Formats: sequence, C-alpha cells, structure tokens
Amino acid sequence: MPDPKVVPEPRTEPRTAPGEGTAEAEPLLELVDVRAGYGAIEVLHGVNLALKPGSLLALLGPNGGGKSTTMRVCAGLHPPTGGELRFAGRKVNGISAQDAARLGVCSIPEGRGIFPNLTVRENLWAATGTGAKLEDLEDKAYGRFPILGERRHQLAGSMSGGEQQMLALSRALGTDPAVLLLDELSMGLAPMIVTRMYETVAELVEGGLSVLVAEQFARAVLPIADTAALMLHGRVVAVGPPEEIEDRLSSDYLGG
Ligand SMILES: Nc1ncnc2c1ncn2[C@@H]1O[C@H](COP(=O)(O)OP(=O)(O)OP(=O)(O)O)[C@@H](O)[C@H]1O
Ligand SMILES: [Mg+2]
Repeated sequence: MPDPKVVPEPRTEPRTAPGEGTAEAEPLLELVDVRAGYGAIEVLHGVNLALKPGSLLALLGPNGGGKSTTMRVCAGLHPPTGGELRFAGRKVNGISAQDAARLGVCSIPEGRGIFPNLTVRENLWAATGTGAKLEDLEDKAYGRFPILGERRHQLAGSMSGGEQQMLALSRALGTDPAVLLLDELSMGLAPMIVTRMYETVAELVEGGLSVLVAEQFARAVLPIADTAALMLHGRVVAVGPPEEIEDRLSSDYLGG
C-alpha cells in the first residue's frame, strides 16, 4: 500500500453536466468512421470523434484538413457518405440541419452566419425561429455582451469583427442548444477579443454545454479544451489531452 503522503491529490471533478456521471459518460455527439466529400471527391476518409457531455473538444489542424466539412456533417448541413453520425448514441445519418437544431445541435459556421444588412435586434429576431422569444434572446445577449445592447439598432455588417462574433454567439445560444459547433471563432479577430470570446465559451461549458471548436489558432482554445484532436488530410490522426496535442502541433505543423 502506498504511503498516503505521496499519493497525489485526486484531480478535481471532471467537467460533466449534472447527472451525467463520470468522464465515461456516453458521447453526446459522435462520428464513427465518417466519410464525406464534394461530388466525386472524398475529403473525409473515416473520421472518428466523440464529444462528451459538458466538455469542450478542440478540432485542430492546418488548412484543408477537413475541419469545416466535419463541422457541417455534425450540423446536418452535409450528408456523410459512410460511417455513422450519432447523437446521444442514436444513428442520425442524413439528418437535416433543422432536425439537428431540434435535437439541440447549433452551429456558428465559418464566416459567422449573421445577416449583415439586418440590425443586431433583427438578427436576434431571425434566431427566434425555433420558438425562442425575442425579449429573452435580447436579455441574454445584452446581459452577456452589453456592447450589443448599445448597438441594437446598428446594421450587423457595420460592426467590428468581435462584435459580429458576439452577435453570432448570441444567436446560436438563443435556442438553448445542448451542443454548440464553432468553426474558426478566432478568424479575423484581435488576440484580445479571441481570448474574451473563449472565456465566454469556457463559462458556457462550465454551465453544462458541450462544445466542438474547429480552429487553426490553437493557442487560444487549448487552455480551455478538455480534449484536443488533430486533423490531417481528412482523418483525425491524434486525440488526447490538450498539452499532448499541443506538443505535436508545435513540433509538426502550426507553430502554436
Ligand atoms: N464546397 C466545396 N466544394 C468542393 N470542395 C470543397 C468544398 N468545401 C471544401 N472543399 C474541399 O474539402 C477539403 C477540406 O476542406 P475544409 O473546408 O473542410 O477544411 P478545413 O480544415 O476547414 O480548412 P481551413 O482550415 O482552411 O478552414 C479541401 O480540400 C477543400 O478544398
Ligand atoms: Mg475550415
């Protein structure tokens, strides 16, 4: 029996949603050997990924590796041609984006997916489609990002990149999703704003949300990730603790 004095302190509780049990909880969203492509060209050659409830999974890797395609498959925006897309253990291949949203999967696509010619308020209104009330959406959005409240009548396209990303996030959260898919949250943003956005994401994960983030800018997301995956040429080639994947990234590909 080991000397109790040298037994390391147990790790703090794994970050899982209340009632979800331990880190062995069933994945909320899972890709098993998923294949997908554009026309005759296959770009995902058997992708395996598992997003645990109440956790943040960072999908990293260089340009053209298939991150965005993977995200679109998860959101029901792109049909897999092989393998299985699973939600809460159930195969949902071929699900529509609308049905994915009904299951609680919500995404911010690469390029933010807001309406530049609508005001902040109108953008929030356009996110009420699934039954959310505009008033609630506005309360939540302006509470989280007061600047959006000040800009409520401004055209979204005329706001700064950071403000637009705050709006995109507010729209996505309006539907109270279980799973949030974020593709290149950091794109075109100043490092300080990126840090701020990821602080918000970390808070949401603490609150039980499950988040899949695709990023080239690994440094911003790794500190808050529970798990990281490295994607190259349409395959996930490594999955593990963020520190381990970071080592591989800095030695091989992205320079952090
Ligand atoms: N609409 C499309 N039509 C045809 N090919 C596409 C389309 N979208 C992506 N591809 C191709 O699929 C491959 C994977 O692209 P994808 O956008 O998924 O990569 P990514 O990892 O998100 O890249 P990035 O880091 O640049 O965003 C690339 O070779 C790309 O050229
Ligand atoms: Mg991409």
